[in-house]
Amino acid sequence: SGGLITLDRGFKNTGSCESAITFLNGEQGILRYRGYSIEDLAENASFLEVAYLLIFGELPSQQELDKFHQDIKDESYVDEEMKKILDGFPRSAHPMGVVSSLTSALIAFNPSSVDVSSEEDMYKSIVKILAKFPVLCAWALRKRTGQPLDYGDSSLGYVENILKMMFKKANEDYKINPVVASALNKLLILHADHEQNCSASTVRIVGSSHAGLFVSISAGVAALWGPLHGGANQAVIEMLEGIKEDGGDSKKYMQKAKDKEDPFRLMGFGHRVYKNFDPRAKIIKKSADEVLGDLGIEDPVLDIAKGLEKEALEDDYFVKRKLYPNVDFYSGIIYRALGIPTEMFTVMFALGRLPGWIAQWREMRLMKEPIGRPRQIYTGENHRPYVDIDERH
Ligand code: SDX
Repeated sequence: SGGLITLDRGFKNTGSCESAITFLNGEQGILRYRGYSIEDLAENASFLEVAYLLIFGELPSQQELDKFHQDIKDESYVDEEMKKILDGFPRSAHPMGVVSSLTSALIAFNPSSVDVSSEEDMYKSIVKILAKFPVLCAWALRKRTGQPLDYGDSSLGYVENILKMMFKKANEDYKINPVVASALNKLLILHADHEQNCSASTVRIVGSSHAGLFVSISAGVAALWGPLHGGANQAVIEMLEGIKEDGGDSKKYMQKAKDKEDPFRLMGFGHRVYKNFDPRAKIIKKSADEVLGDLGIEDPVLDIAKGLEKEALEDDYFVKRKLYPNVDFYSGIIYRALGIPTEMFTVMFALGRLPGWIAQWREMRLMKEPIGRPRQIYTGENHRPYVDIDERH
């Protein structure tokens, strides 16, 4: 249109949409889903209840929740042919790559979900992905551990079912540990949405071309994988393990993080919006103490994390830049205590963020948002004539 283009790298000061789903206040460290505080929801709600709230805008009645869960249970299978795709991966494949690929492959077995425009068809796609995505995530883990692939147990709750699909051993019954189930429920709630973060914006922009929900979610998984985003929860544990191996000397790592020549960053610290403590990190830190205590687990990495946090909060490089622990800093310590391997941490983040991605996609489609297509500031060559190859040097 030739109008004035303002450059805003990383969209630091650009609003991409109007949204009624999640409210963040970065200065005060406030996070609310549809007006409910994250503290209230993490303490009192079930993850499926929060998924319903984020997607449809209201806390469900018992009857609405039961119907929602039943509709999901009815879709909690994946076409057996999908296992052939999984077979094609090496056992060493990173689970995020496996899950992103399998999620877009779902389209081949659910062609009616290619593009949906009616609310009724959207609902069908939504319950399908909420049902099938956890199966694919559990399959990605069991591929790595060489265990048989399993489906859910429809007698269980949504979160308990995820645990059973992930951990049930072939020849044993699986007993749900309420401490583990409650810890995972809380973690998934805390990860459920975060307004226009990198992966949610990715889901929105892919969905804005009407590419359909499954491939939009697959794109969200790909964006989340990056260590600057959801991949940080795996990178944090690798960093903390490194500090432990190194004799527990956090100062050396903090020095590296300050060195502009060194690409190393203090993983799990800093945030585009929060310039205060990430409210989720506060809850997860407290929950880490409780869960490890209840499970009788001593993890020296937790003490290293607390020591690193203390030092960073007293260091003017980090204080000046308002770098606080974010959601990824303590979450891996709980995942590990729940028996989840490090390579699966970001898959757990994706399982939690799935309802948020769905809610953002649905709102974008219902509001008939235009296709996302930003402009640029051109800095390339001016017009120049073609030169024959034998005249080039
Ligand atoms: C998530 O957006 C979301 O909401 C994401 C998320 C969600 O729920 O969806 O909250 C989940 O992704 C949490 C963030 C996980 N990532 C990490 O923990 C990786 C480490 N963090 C950084 O890479 C960084 O803090 C980001 C990516 C989180 C934010 O990057 P920004 O906003 O682009 O900030 P920046 O890179 O411009 O940094 C500002 C300054 C720079 O120093 P100066 O150039 O001003 O001197 O702070 C420094 C940076 O070098 N800095 C860090 C740092 N983070 C920023 N220095 C050392 N260690 C860090 N972690």
